[in-house]
Amino acid sequence: MSDVALGGSMKPVSNLLPSLVAIIGVGIAAAAPLGLPPVAVPANNPMTDAKVALGERLFNDKRFSSTGLVSCSTCHAKEKAFTDSPLQTSVGVHNQEGTRNAPTLVNAAYFKRMFWDGRSSDLEDKSRHPLVNPVEMGLHDYAPILQIVRTDPEYVGMFRAACGREPAAVSMTQVKRAIATFERTLIFGDSPFDRWYFGGDKLAMSESAKRGFKVFMEDGRCQSCHTIEQNFALFSDNRFHNIGVGINRIRQELLRLTPELLLAKARGINVDKAVLSNEATAEFGRFALSERFDDLGAFKTPSLRNVAVTAPYMHDGSLETLRAVVEHYDNGGVTDKTDQVSDYLSGGIRPLHLSEQQITDLITFMEALTSPEFAALATTPDAQ
Ligand code: HEC
Ligand code: HEC
Repeated sequence: MSDVALGGSMKPVSNLLPSLVAIIGVGIAAAAPLGLPPVAVPANNPMTDAKVALGERLFNDKRFSSTGLVSCSTCHAKEKAFTDSPLQTSVGVHNQEGTRNAPTLVNAAYFKRMFWDGRSSDLEDKSRHPLVNPVEMGLHDYAPILQIVRTDPEYVGMFRAACGREPAAVSMTQVKRAIATFERTLIFGDSPFDRWYFGGDKLAMSESAKRGFKVFMEDGRCQSCHTIEQNFALFSDNRFHNIGVGINRIRQELLRLTPELLLAKARGINVDKAVLSNEATAEFGRFALSERFDDLGAFKTPSLRNVAVTAPYMHDGSLETLRAVVEHYDNGGVTDKTDQVSDYLSGGIRPLHLSEQQITDLITFMEALTSPEFAALATTPDAQ
Protein backbone atom coordinates (compact mmCIF):
# COMPACT_ATOMS: atom_id res chain seq x y z
CA MET A 1 0.00 0.00 0.00
CA SER A 2 0.94 3.63 0.13
CA ASP A 3 4.37 4.39 1.51
CA VAL A 4 3.48 7.92 2.62
CA ALA A 5 2.40 6.34 5.91
CA LEU A 6 2.48 8.94 8.63
CA GLY A 7 3.60 6.61 11.40
CA GLY A 8 7.11 7.57 12.37
CA SER A 9 7.78 9.93 9.48
CA MET A 10 7.58 13.52 10.60
CA LYS A 11 7.43 15.13 7.19
CA PRO A 12 5.29 18.26 7.28
CA VAL A 13 1.76 17.37 6.22
CA SER A 14 1.83 20.18 3.68
CA ASN A 15 4.40 18.16 1.70
CA LEU A 16 2.01 15.24 1.46
CA LEU A 17 -0.71 17.32 -0.10
CA PRO A 18 0.63 19.06 -3.16
CA SER A 19 -2.70 19.07 -4.96
CA LEU A 20 -4.76 20.38 -2.07
CA VAL A 21 -2.79 23.46 -1.35
CA ALA A 22 -3.02 24.53 -4.98
CA ILE A 23 -6.04 26.76 -4.67
CA ILE A 24 -8.13 28.22 -7.42
CA GLY A 25 -9.27 31.71 -6.54
CA VAL A 26 -10.98 32.40 -3.25
CA GLY A 27 -13.69 30.17 -1.89
CA ILE A 28 -12.93 26.58 -2.77
CA ALA A 29 -9.86 24.41 -2.45
CA ALA A 30 -9.02 22.79 -5.76
CA ALA A 31 -8.65 19.03 -5.75
CA ALA A 32 -10.25 16.72 -3.23
CA PRO A 33 -9.37 13.02 -2.97
CA LEU A 34 -11.68 10.31 -4.25
CA GLY A 35 -14.87 10.17 -2.17
CA LEU A 36 -14.81 13.72 -0.87
CA PRO A 37 -16.16 17.05 -2.14
CA PRO A 38 -14.06 20.23 -2.40
CA VAL A 39 -13.52 22.00 0.92
CA ALA A 40 -15.27 25.33 1.37
CA VAL A 41 -12.84 28.07 2.33
CA PRO A 42 -14.09 31.30 3.95
CA ALA A 43 -13.64 34.31 1.70
CA ASN A 44 -11.78 36.18 4.45
CA ASN A 45 -9.26 33.38 4.95
CA PRO A 46 -7.99 32.20 1.56
CA MET A 47 -5.54 29.29 1.50
CA THR A 48 -1.93 29.84 0.58
CA ASP A 49 1.14 27.64 0.97
CA ALA A 50 2.70 30.19 3.32
CA LYS A 51 -0.34 30.17 5.60
CA VAL A 52 -0.52 26.36 5.67
CA ALA A 53 3.14 26.17 6.71
CA LEU A 54 2.58 28.81 9.39
CA GLY A 55 -0.53 27.02 10.65
CA GLU A 56 1.32 23.73 10.89
CA ARG A 57 4.11 25.31 12.95
CA LEU A 58 1.58 26.93 15.31
CA PHE A 59 -0.27 23.60 15.59
CA ASN A 60 2.90 21.85 16.78
CA ASP A 61 4.18 24.60 19.09
CA LYS A 62 4.23 23.48 22.73
CA ARG A 63 5.11 26.95 23.96
CA PHE A 64 1.45 27.91 23.58
CA SER A 65 0.47 26.11 26.78
CA SER A 66 0.82 27.08 30.39
CA THR A 67 3.35 24.30 31.01
CA GLY A 68 5.19 24.44 27.68
CA LEU A 69 4.48 20.74 27.24
CA VAL A 70 1.22 20.61 25.29
CA SER A 71 0.50 21.53 21.68
CA CYS A 72 -2.50 20.84 19.50
CA SER A 73 -0.65 17.79 18.22
CA THR A 74 -0.42 16.33 21.73
CA CYS A 75 -4.09 15.34 21.41
CA HIS A 76 -4.36 15.46 17.62
CA ALA A 77 -1.18 13.60 16.65
CA LYS A 78 -0.45 13.10 12.98
CA GLU A 79 0.97 9.64 13.64
CA LYS A 80 -2.34 8.67 15.32
CA ALA A 81 -4.56 9.94 12.51
CA PHE A 82 -4.83 13.26 14.37
CA THR A 83 -6.22 11.78 17.58
CA ASP A 84 -4.68 10.72 20.89
CA SER A 85 -5.74 7.10 20.46
CA PRO A 86 -5.83 4.93 22.57
CA LEU A 87 -6.69 7.43 25.33
CA GLN A 88 -10.33 7.34 26.41
CA THR A 89 -10.45 11.04 27.23
CA SER A 90 -7.78 13.63 26.51
CA VAL A 91 -5.05 14.67 28.89
CA GLY A 92 -4.02 18.34 28.88
CA VAL A 93 -1.72 20.51 30.96
CA HIS A 94 -0.74 19.16 34.41
CA ASN A 95 -2.01 15.75 33.29
CA GLN A 96 -5.60 16.87 33.75
CA GLU A 97 -8.04 14.53 32.18
CA GLY A 98 -10.89 16.10 30.24
CA THR A 99 -14.33 14.59 29.84
CA ARG A 100 -14.23 13.90 26.12
CA ASN A 101 -12.51 11.77 23.54
CA ALA A 102 -10.40 13.75 21.08
CA PRO A 103 -11.99 13.48 17.64
CA THR A 104 -9.74 13.19 14.62
CA LEU A 105 -9.13 16.45 12.78
CA VAL A 106 -9.04 14.52 9.51
CA ASN A 107 -11.87 15.91 7.35
CA ALA A 108 -13.11 18.09 10.25
CA ALA A 109 -13.20 20.93 7.70
CA TYR A 110 -16.47 19.46 6.37
CA PHE A 111 -18.34 19.80 9.66
CA LYS A 112 -20.85 22.62 9.87
CA ARG A 113 -20.22 22.91 13.60
CA MET A 114 -17.19 21.92 15.68
CA PHE A 115 -16.90 19.76 18.81
CA TRP A 116 -19.08 16.85 19.90
CA ASP A 117 -21.85 19.24 20.96
CA GLY A 118 -21.27 21.75 18.15
CA ARG A 119 -20.49 24.57 20.55
CA SER A 120 -18.12 26.17 18.11
CA SER A 121 -19.17 27.37 14.70
CA ASP A 122 -16.07 26.89 12.59
CA LEU A 123 -12.36 26.15 12.48
CA GLU A 124 -11.52 29.84 12.88
CA ASP A 125 -13.22 29.60 16.24
CA LYS A 126 -14.10 33.12 17.31
CA SER A 127 -14.79 32.73 21.00
CA ARG A 128 -13.68 29.44 22.55
CA HIS A 129 -10.39 27.75 22.08
CA PRO A 130 -8.29 24.88 23.45
CA LEU A 131 -5.45 27.35 23.99
CA VAL A 132 -7.32 28.97 26.86
CA ASN A 133 -9.25 25.98 28.13
CA PRO A 134 -7.95 25.10 31.62
CA VAL A 135 -7.90 21.34 30.99
CA GLU A 136 -6.40 21.63 27.51
CA MET A 137 -3.59 24.13 27.00
CA GLY A 138 -4.38 26.13 30.11
CA LEU A 139 -3.43 29.70 29.18
CA HIS A 140 -5.29 32.47 31.04
CA ASP A 141 -5.34 34.69 28.00
CA TYR A 142 -3.71 35.01 24.60
CA ALA A 143 -0.93 37.41 25.66
CA PRO A 144 1.85 34.75 25.85
CA ILE A 145 1.06 33.59 22.33
CA LEU A 146 1.17 37.09 20.90
CA GLN A 147 4.44 37.69 22.73
CA ILE A 148 6.01 34.65 21.02
CA VAL A 149 4.67 35.18 17.51
CA ARG A 150 5.65 38.85 17.54
CA THR A 151 9.23 38.23 18.67
CA ASP A 152 10.32 34.76 17.45
CA PRO A 153 12.25 35.62 14.26
CA GLU A 154 10.96 32.58 12.39
CA TYR A 155 7.33 33.50 13.14
CA VAL A 156 7.96 37.12 12.23
CA GLY A 157 9.08 36.02 8.75
CA MET A 158 6.25 33.52 8.41
CA PHE A 159 3.54 36.03 9.36
CA ARG A 160 5.01 38.49 6.89
CA ALA A 161 4.84 35.85 4.16
CA ALA A 162 1.40 34.51 5.10
CA CYS A 163 -0.49 37.68 6.02
CA GLY A 164 1.77 40.56 5.02
CA ARG A 165 1.80 41.80 8.60
CA GLU A 166 4.55 43.31 10.67
CA PRO A 167 5.01 41.81 14.18
CA ALA A 168 3.10 44.49 16.10
CA ALA A 169 0.08 44.08 13.82
CA VAL A 170 -0.23 40.31 14.32
CA SER A 171 -3.30 39.47 16.41
CA MET A 172 -5.07 36.26 17.45
CA THR A 173 -7.24 36.59 14.37
CA GLN A 174 -4.23 35.79 12.17
CA VAL A 175 -3.07 33.02 14.51
CA LYS A 176 -6.46 31.30 14.48
CA ARG A 177 -6.86 31.76 10.75
CA ALA A 178 -3.48 30.17 10.04
CA ILE A 179 -4.28 27.16 12.26
CA ALA A 180 -7.66 26.79 10.54
CA THR A 181 -5.95 26.94 7.15
CA PHE A 182 -3.63 24.11 8.16
CA GLU A 183 -6.63 22.10 9.41
CA ARG A 184 -8.30 22.55 6.00
CA THR A 185 -5.45 20.59 4.43
CA LEU A 186 -6.21 17.51 6.54
CA ILE A 187 -8.44 16.04 3.86
CA PHE A 188 -8.09 12.29 3.39
CA GLY A 189 -10.30 10.04 1.27
CA ASP A 190 -9.37 7.40 -1.30
CA SER A 191 -10.13 4.47 1.02
CA PRO A 192 -10.81 0.95 -0.33
CA PHE A 193 -14.51 1.85 -0.06
CA ASP A 194 -14.01 5.00 -2.17
CA ARG A 195 -12.09 3.07 -4.80
CA TRP A 196 -14.87 0.49 -4.95
CA TYR A 197 -17.95 2.70 -4.70
CA PHE A 198 -16.86 5.91 -6.42
CA GLY A 199 -13.91 4.58 -8.43
CA GLY A 200 -15.55 1.45 -9.81
CA ASP A 201 -12.68 -0.83 -8.77
CA LYS A 202 -14.46 -4.14 -8.14
CA LEU A 203 -11.49 -5.60 -6.31
CA ALA A 204 -10.82 -2.68 -3.96
CA MET A 205 -12.96 -4.11 -1.15
CA SER A 206 -13.34 -7.67 0.17
CA GLU A 207 -16.59 -9.63 -0.24
CA SER A 208 -17.21 -9.33 3.48
CA ALA A 209 -16.86 -5.53 3.32
CA LYS A 210 -19.28 -5.44 0.37
CA ARG A 211 -21.84 -7.41 2.38
CA GLY A 212 -21.15 -5.06 5.29
CA PHE A 213 -21.95 -2.09 3.06
CA LYS A 214 -25.38 -3.62 2.43
CA VAL A 215 -25.95 -3.98 6.18
CA PHE A 216 -24.81 -0.36 6.62
CA MET A 217 -27.38 0.81 4.05
CA GLU A 218 -30.26 -1.52 4.89
CA ASP A 219 -30.70 -3.63 8.05
CA GLY A 220 -28.31 -1.51 10.14
CA ARG A 221 -29.81 1.80 8.95
CA CYS A 222 -26.41 3.36 9.66
CA GLN A 223 -26.47 5.58 6.60
CA SER A 224 -29.51 7.51 7.85
CA CYS A 225 -27.05 9.44 10.04
CA HIS A 226 -23.62 8.44 8.65
CA THR A 227 -24.57 9.65 5.19
CA ILE A 228 -23.27 8.57 1.79
CA GLU A 229 -24.14 10.89 -1.12
CA GLN A 230 -24.11 10.15 -4.81
CA ASN A 231 -20.66 11.63 -5.49
CA PHE A 232 -19.05 11.73 -2.07
CA ALA A 233 -19.42 10.39 1.45
CA LEU A 234 -18.86 12.41 4.61
CA PHE A 235 -20.43 9.65 6.77
CA SER A 236 -22.02 12.40 8.86
CA ASP A 237 -25.33 14.23 8.52
CA ASN A 238 -23.81 17.10 10.52
CA ARG A 239 -26.64 16.74 13.03
CA PHE A 240 -26.94 15.78 16.70
CA HIS A 241 -28.49 12.57 18.01
CA ASN A 242 -28.83 10.75 21.29
CA ILE A 243 -27.77 7.18 20.59
CA GLY A 244 -27.71 6.17 24.24
CA VAL A 245 -24.06 6.78 25.12
CA GLY A 246 -23.29 8.46 28.44
CA ILE A 247 -26.71 9.87 29.24
CA ASN A 248 -27.54 6.98 31.59
CA ARG A 249 -24.79 8.16 33.90
CA ILE A 250 -26.84 11.24 34.82
CA ARG A 251 -30.40 9.98 34.32
CA GLN A 252 -31.12 9.75 38.06
CA GLU A 253 -29.91 13.30 38.55
CA LEU A 254 -31.46 15.02 35.54
CA LEU A 255 -34.25 16.67 37.55
CA ARG A 256 -31.71 18.32 39.79
CA LEU A 257 -28.93 18.94 37.26
CA THR A 258 -31.02 20.47 34.47
CA PRO A 259 -32.26 23.56 36.38
CA GLU A 260 -28.78 23.88 37.89
CA LEU A 261 -27.22 24.01 34.45
CA LEU A 262 -29.76 26.52 33.13
CA LEU A 263 -29.26 28.74 36.14
CA ALA A 264 -25.48 28.57 35.85
CA LYS A 265 -25.77 29.48 32.16
CA ALA A 266 -28.04 32.43 32.99
CA ARG A 267 -25.33 33.59 35.39
CA GLY A 268 -22.83 33.40 32.55
CA ILE A 269 -20.67 30.33 33.28
CA ASN A 270 -18.07 29.40 30.69
CA VAL A 271 -19.83 26.51 28.92
CA ASP A 272 -16.65 25.42 27.16
CA LYS A 273 -14.87 25.02 30.47
CA ALA A 274 -17.88 23.40 32.14
CA VAL A 275 -18.38 20.65 29.56
CA LEU A 276 -14.71 19.69 29.52
CA SER A 277 -14.18 19.75 33.29
CA ASN A 278 -17.48 18.57 34.76
CA GLU A 279 -18.45 14.96 34.05
CA ALA A 280 -22.17 15.51 34.57
CA THR A 281 -22.37 18.67 32.46
CA ALA A 282 -20.45 16.88 29.71
CA GLU A 283 -23.28 14.36 29.29
CA PHE A 284 -25.95 16.94 28.48
CA GLY A 285 -24.50 17.07 24.97
CA ARG A 286 -26.15 19.48 22.55
CA PHE A 287 -28.73 20.43 25.22
CA ALA A 288 -26.09 22.45 27.10
CA LEU A 289 -26.08 24.79 24.11
CA SER A 290 -29.56 24.58 22.61
CA GLU A 291 -31.55 24.01 25.85
CA ARG A 292 -33.97 21.89 23.79
CA PHE A 293 -35.06 18.70 25.49
CA ASP A 294 -34.82 16.68 22.29
CA ASP A 295 -31.10 17.52 22.36
CA LEU A 296 -30.53 15.90 25.77
CA GLY A 297 -27.57 13.54 25.48
CA ALA A 298 -27.31 14.31 21.76
CA PHE A 299 -23.88 14.52 20.12
CA LYS A 300 -22.67 15.26 16.62
CA THR A 301 -22.61 12.34 14.21
CA PRO A 302 -18.88 11.70 13.69
CA SER A 303 -17.52 10.75 10.30
CA LEU A 304 -16.59 7.08 10.10
CA ARG A 305 -13.58 7.62 7.87
CA ASN A 306 -10.44 6.09 9.42
CA VAL A 307 -12.52 4.85 12.33
CA ALA A 308 -10.60 1.55 12.39
CA VAL A 309 -7.45 3.40 13.51
CA THR A 310 -8.95 5.87 16.02
CA ALA A 311 -10.28 3.71 18.89
CA PRO A 312 -11.77 4.15 21.43
CA TYR A 313 -15.12 5.51 20.30
CA MET A 314 -17.92 7.96 21.13
CA HIS A 315 -17.81 11.40 22.77
CA ASP A 316 -16.67 9.85 26.04
CA GLY A 317 -14.41 7.18 24.53
CA SER A 318 -16.47 4.59 26.39
CA LEU A 319 -16.58 1.93 23.66
CA GLU A 320 -13.25 0.28 22.98
CA THR A 321 -13.83 -1.62 19.76
CA LEU A 322 -15.94 -1.45 16.62
CA ARG A 323 -17.56 -4.68 17.76
CA ALA A 324 -18.67 -3.00 20.99
CA VAL A 325 -20.11 -0.13 18.92
CA VAL A 326 -22.07 -2.43 16.62
CA GLU A 327 -23.38 -4.41 19.60
CA HIS A 328 -24.49 -1.16 21.24
CA TYR A 329 -26.57 -0.37 18.14
CA ASP A 330 -27.76 -3.95 17.82
CA ASN A 331 -29.06 -3.76 21.40
CA GLY A 332 -31.11 -0.69 20.45
CA GLY A 333 -28.94 2.00 22.02
CA VAL A 334 -27.71 0.40 25.24
CA THR A 335 -24.24 -0.96 25.79
CA ASP A 336 -25.35 -3.47 28.37
CA LYS A 337 -28.54 -5.25 27.34
CA THR A 338 -29.89 -5.04 30.87
CA ASP A 339 -29.60 -1.22 30.96
CA GLN A 340 -32.65 0.94 30.65
CA VAL A 341 -33.02 2.61 27.25
CA SER A 342 -32.67 6.43 27.40
CA ASP A 343 -35.98 8.33 27.25
CA TYR A 344 -34.40 10.82 24.89
CA LEU A 345 -33.06 8.29 22.38
CA SER A 346 -32.99 9.43 18.75
CA GLY A 347 -35.84 8.05 16.62
CA GLY A 348 -33.62 5.90 14.41
CA ILE A 349 -32.19 3.83 17.26
CA ARG A 350 -33.93 0.51 18.02
CA PRO A 351 -32.87 -3.13 18.27
CA LEU A 352 -31.50 -4.35 14.94
CA HIS A 353 -31.40 -8.14 15.39
CA LEU A 354 -28.31 -8.49 13.20
CA SER A 355 -26.84 -11.95 12.67
CA GLU A 356 -23.29 -12.75 13.79
CA GLN A 357 -22.25 -12.72 10.11
CA GLN A 358 -23.83 -9.29 9.55
CA ILE A 359 -22.02 -7.88 12.59
CA THR A 360 -18.67 -9.17 11.31
CA ASP A 361 -19.35 -7.84 7.80
CA LEU A 362 -20.36 -4.43 9.11
CA ILE A 363 -17.10 -4.17 11.05
CA THR A 364 -15.14 -5.24 7.97
CA PHE A 365 -16.92 -2.52 6.00
CA MET A 366 -15.89 0.14 8.53
CA GLU A 367 -12.32 -1.16 8.31
CA ALA A 368 -12.44 -0.41 4.57
CA LEU A 369 -12.87 3.32 5.29
CA THR A 370 -9.18 3.85 6.08
CA SER A 371 -7.26 6.25 3.85
CA PRO A 372 -3.92 4.97 2.48
CA GLU A 373 -2.02 7.58 4.51
CA PHE A 374 -3.17 5.90 7.74
CA ALA A 375 -3.27 2.29 6.56
CA ALA A 376 -0.02 1.49 8.36
CA LEU A 377 -1.82 2.11 11.66
CA ALA A 378 -4.38 -0.58 10.92
CA THR A 379 -4.22 -4.04 12.37
CA THR A 380 -6.61 -5.78 9.98
CA PRO A 381 -6.18 -6.45 6.25
CA ASP A 382 -9.40 -4.70 5.22
CA ALA A 383 -8.20 -1.43 6.66
CA GLN A 384 -5.08 -1.49 4.46
C1 HEC B 1 -5.69 18.21 25.82
C2 HEC B 1 -6.04 17.68 24.54
C3 HEC B 1 -6.33 18.63 23.41
C4 HEC B 1 -5.55 19.66 22.94
C5 HEC B 1 -4.23 20.14 23.48
C6 HEC B 1 -6.25 20.18 21.79
N1 HEC B 1 -7.39 19.49 21.57
FE1 HEC B 1 -8.67 19.77 20.05
N2 HEC B 1 -9.97 18.51 20.92
C7 HEC B 1 -9.75 17.79 22.08
C8 HEC B 1 -10.98 17.21 22.53
C9 HEC B 1 -11.16 16.32 23.77
C10 HEC B 1 -11.97 17.60 21.63
C11 HEC B 1 -13.45 17.31 21.73
C12 HEC B 1 -14.03 18.34 22.69
C13 HEC B 1 -15.53 18.40 22.67
O1 HEC B 1 -16.12 18.03 21.66
O2 HEC B 1 -16.11 18.86 23.64
C14 HEC B 1 -11.29 18.40 20.61
C15 HEC B 1 -11.92 18.93 19.49
C16 HEC B 1 -11.30 19.68 18.52
C17 HEC B 1 -11.91 20.13 17.29
C18 HEC B 1 -13.31 19.80 16.81
C19 HEC B 1 -13.30 18.65 15.83
C20 HEC B 1 -14.68 18.13 15.50
O3 HEC B 1 -14.76 17.08 14.84
O4 HEC B 1 -15.68 18.71 15.92
C21 HEC B 1 -10.98 20.89 16.64
C22 HEC B 1 -11.14 21.56 15.29
C23 HEC B 1 -9.79 20.91 17.47
N3 HEC B 1 -10.01 20.15 18.59
C24 HEC B 1 -8.63 21.59 17.15
C25 HEC B 1 -7.60 21.78 18.07
C26 HEC B 1 -6.53 22.76 17.89
C27 HEC B 1 -6.36 23.66 16.69
C28 HEC B 1 -5.75 22.68 18.99
C29 HEC B 1 -4.56 23.54 19.35
C30 HEC B 1 -4.77 24.98 19.37
C31 HEC B 1 -6.32 21.64 19.85
N4 HEC B 1 -7.44 21.13 19.26
C32 HEC B 1 -5.76 21.24 21.05
C33 HEC B 1 -8.54 17.66 22.71
C34 HEC B 1 -7.50 18.55 22.55
C1 HEC C 1 -29.62 8.23 14.70
C2 HEC C 1 -28.35 8.49 14.05
C3 HEC C 1 -27.33 7.38 13.98
C4 HEC C 1 -27.47 6.11 13.47
C5 HEC C 1 -28.73 5.48 12.87
C6 HEC C 1 -26.18 5.48 13.57
N1 HEC C 1 -25.28 6.32 14.14
FE1 HEC C 1 -23.35 5.91 14.58
N2 HEC C 1 -23.20 7.64 15.60
C7 HEC C 1 -24.17 8.60 15.70
C8 HEC C 1 -23.80 9.58 16.70
C9 HEC C 1 -24.60 10.80 17.08
C10 HEC C 1 -22.56 9.17 17.22
C11 HEC C 1 -21.79 9.82 18.37
C12 HEC C 1 -22.54 9.50 19.66
C13 HEC C 1 -21.85 9.85 20.94
O1 HEC C 1 -20.65 10.05 20.97
O2 HEC C 1 -22.56 9.90 21.96
C14 HEC C 1 -22.21 7.95 16.49
C15 HEC C 1 -21.00 7.26 16.66
C16 HEC C 1 -20.63 6.16 15.92
C17 HEC C 1 -19.33 5.55 15.96
C18 HEC C 1 -18.13 6.05 16.78
C19 HEC C 1 -17.24 6.91 15.92
C20 HEC C 1 -16.16 7.62 16.69
O3 HEC C 1 -15.28 8.19 16.03
O4 HEC C 1 -16.18 7.66 17.93
C21 HEC C 1 -19.35 4.48 15.11
C22 HEC C 1 -18.21 3.54 14.80
C23 HEC C 1 -20.69 4.41 14.56
N3 HEC C 1 -21.44 5.45 15.06
C24 HEC C 1 -21.13 3.46 13.66
C25 HEC C 1 -22.47 3.28 13.34
C26 HEC C 1 -23.01 2.11 12.70
C27 HEC C 1 -22.20 0.90 12.27
C28 HEC C 1 -24.36 2.30 12.58
C29 HEC C 1 -25.40 1.32 12.07
C30 HEC C 1 -25.49 0.07 12.80
C31 HEC C 1 -24.66 3.61 13.13
N4 HEC C 1 -23.49 4.17 13.56
C32 HEC C 1 -25.92 4.18 13.17
C33 HEC C 1 -25.36 8.62 15.00
C34 HEC C 1 -25.94 7.49 14.41
